[in-house]
Amino acid sequence: MPKTPALLDETTLQTRIAELGKEIREVYGEDTPITCIGVLKGSIIFLSDLVRCIDGPVELEFLGVSSYRGTESTGEVRITHDLHNSIAGKHVLVVEDIVDTGLTLSYLRDMLEVREPASLRVVALLDKPSRRTSPVQVEFIGFEIPDAFVVGYGLDLDERYRNLPYVGIYQGD
Ligand code: IMP
Repeated sequence: MPKTPALLDETTLQTRIAELGKEIREVYGEDTPITCIGVLKGSIIFLSDLVRCIDGPVELEFLGVSSYRGTESTGEVRITHDLHNSIAGKHVLVVEDIVDTGLTLSYLRDMLEVREPASLRVVALLDKPSRRTSPVQVEFIGFEIPDAFVVGYGLDLDERYRNLPYVGIYQGD
């Protein structure tokens, strides 16, 4: 069995996500439609819990990116799935699983700004600030975590462990 001690258990995750949902709606205002862009694949479990904690109008889009192999970033961001609809004039909220070096998010912010949304903000479930090499703005953060490779709740190691219901520290098989 893999050793993945829990860093954030299910109750801790859900409590914070409910708070984030409220904070987000307050910032956008009651009736503003929010276009939530889930960054595939790691964010989808967070996204599905988060949107159920945001009252009012929400639209969903997905963007596929890949920058990691194993536990190390390749340093190169690739778009593997683009948006289906234009975001011009929309209030966009990028939903990320984790910000590590910041490379992926910097790339995404630049790429999305060019498409002229009415506003662009980011929510990340997890933030590893000690690993940052590309400074990037993140408007909403669930949890700051230490420099450890984490899996579960959508986060993977080569496609494994996404289905763990909690966020755990990967310590080898
Ligand atoms: P960055 O470009 O270095 O900020 O990395 C962002 C992406 O790398 C995230 O969206 C994740 O897919 C992946 N990633 C970074 N750290 C971890 C981790 O600890 N566990 C799983 N995936 C990670």
